[in-house]
Amino acid sequence: MHEHDVLVVGAGGAGLRAAIAAHEEGADVAIVTKLHPVRSHTGAAEGGINAALRDGDSWQDHAYDTMKGSDYLGDAPAIETLCQDSPEETIQLEHWGMPFSREDDGRVSQRPFGGLSFPRTTYAGAETGHHLLHTLYQQVVKRGIQVYDEWYVSRLAVTEDPDPEKRECHGIVAFDVQTGEVAGFRARKGVVLATGGPGQVFDHTTNAVSCTGDGPAMAYRAGVPMEDMEFIQFHPTTLPSTGVLISEGVRGEGGILYNDIGERFMFEHGYASNDGELASRDVVARAELTEVNEGRGVDDEYVHLDMRHLGEERIIDRLENILHLAGDFEGVDGLVEPMPVKPGQHYAMGGIETDENGETLVSGLYAVGECACVSVHGSNRLGGNALPELIVFGARAGRHAAGTDLGEAIIETGRTEDTEIGEVDTPVAPGAIHAGDTDEDAVADGGDPRGEGAGVIPEPNEVVERALEAENRRIDHLMEKDEGVQQAELRAKLQKTMTQNVNVFRTEAGLKQALRDIREVREQYQDVYVDDPSRTFNTDLQQTIEMRNLIDTAEAITLGALARDEFRGAHWRQEYQERRDEKWLKHTLLSWNDGTPELWYKPVILEGEDKTYEPKVRSY
Ligand code: FUM
Repeated sequence: MHEHDVLVVGAGGAGLRAAIAAHEEGADVAIVTKLHPVRSHTGAAEGGINAALRDGDSWQDHAYDTMKGSDYLGDAPAIETLCQDSPEETIQLEHWGMPFSREDDGRVSQRPFGGLSFPRTTYAGAETGHHLLHTLYQQVVKRGIQVYDEWYVSRLAVTEDPDPEKRECHGIVAFDVQTGEVAGFRARKGVVLATGGPGQVFDHTTNAVSCTGDGPAMAYRAGVPMEDMEFIQFHPTTLPSTGVLISEGVRGEGGILYNDIGERFMFEHGYASNDGELASRDVVARAELTEVNEGRGVDDEYVHLDMRHLGEERIIDRLENILHLAGDFEGVDGLVEPMPVKPGQHYAMGGIETDENGETLVSGLYAVGECACVSVHGSNRLGGNALPELIVFGARAGRHAAGTDLGEAIIETGRTEDTEIGEVDTPVAPGAIHAGDTDEDAVADGGDPRGEGAGVIPEPNEVVERALEAENRRIDHLMEKDEGVQQAELRAKLQKTMTQNVNVFRTEAGLKQALRDIREVREQYQDVYVDDPSRTFNTDLQQTIEMRNLIDTAEAITLGALARDEFRGAHWRQEYQERRDEKWLKHTLLSWNDGTPELWYKPVILEGEDKTYEPKVRSY
């Protein structure tokens, strides 16, 4: 068994920043990651990092913009922490050698982004995430932090207790993708999940194939709630044929959106009379699809994004990467023609419920980055707010997991006496069991089954050993089976229904259809088998395990969306086209209650350090 103080699962921006912070506190840290760090999906982030760095700007204005962008579903204490700490974390990156774009006078450049009242998005060309990842990875190498790369973490080692709040996380189980070896990892102090988002639930997405919701699904099955999962961001400018991202930085630099008849529709059709193309993403995505649905789309599918007027010099200086992406993936030369763009899944606002120290309901288990929901994005994230979240909360979680006292968290996790349990009219009953798990193992992902020994609190090493045994049983079962259904077929079916029915425009009938399809896929998953018999680089096995994470996250997204009968941020419902604060100023939580998903709710915190953010009509 491997043993470290702190185990960080995932090596994107949040994971690397958490590992560095824990190491700085003196902890023995290891990173366990299914990809080599510099292949992590953070590398695909293009636009930038919002930080109030300049005279005339303030963290308070950044917080106000973020709360408004969230459509008043973000928690003020977390938003204020994000906005207060982002400048220092950004300067820290600069000191670690991040090659930010600069003005002629040497200052780090900042540009406008959607929904911001000040041009505060700090960037490195249109490949900010790539440079962020390399900068942080250099610090990891410099510190000698151990990285188990291409080790896929497939189970948490959590103690069993009927009350999830009494459970403890003592480690993880992972398999080495190169050799197939399955091993237990004991964490003496904490496990930090930083596994990224669940974008592969959709088929038109900016997300890498590795974005399979592993962290939220594993934590959920171990008893930790998923929060606000129904809020999915559809980025307005993705290439139609692949989903590849065309950065909001193009619009930040002055790029213009046109419909098929050459109208600058954001202004001309009144979608955002003040900010036009730089309204927040939910607004622009709906506007584009409305143009298409009303017959003004190009080829009935997309709109045009034009940056030609910016001139070659400026485009090469600030957006060169965009020319390569449009050319390589769509065959379009952005210097001489407009680029075709349409909305595509980009980001999950929800995730594992945490407090502002990254701590979850289960002691010893932390989560940061897109897999987490500390609730800074609410129902709609502002462009440029994901990267600061990674570094600000990554650093906090790393420190806290290493044992540093960060003070009491204002945002609390878990239920209270007043917790409101939700009800949703579902078209089919839930199915609970996952292929390869025995009934006991399926109770939770912890691998500490009920039955023999129940009620006795085992030693931490034993918890990890039991999780390892459970995982070996599951993998053996999947490998021994030689017929059934293959994961690729199920993945395609799930992605199709989610893209059709749980997209920008949502209807009750569509959401119910999605839920029926998801539960059919869950049923079929009982019969899944792995075709590749090898233990080395068996991506079929890995994707089969990922598949059940996709099922759990897709179900969480859809259940939350079906229950929330209002229109807020990225969640638009045909039948309810208004924000309903009197009923819905609350977070959705979903808990795995002995295999049955249970919805419950907790209030949004609108009280900040010295002001309360009053919900207002949101217009741009
Ligand atoms: O458009 C972009 O460059 C994406 C930025 C973000 O999601 O924050």
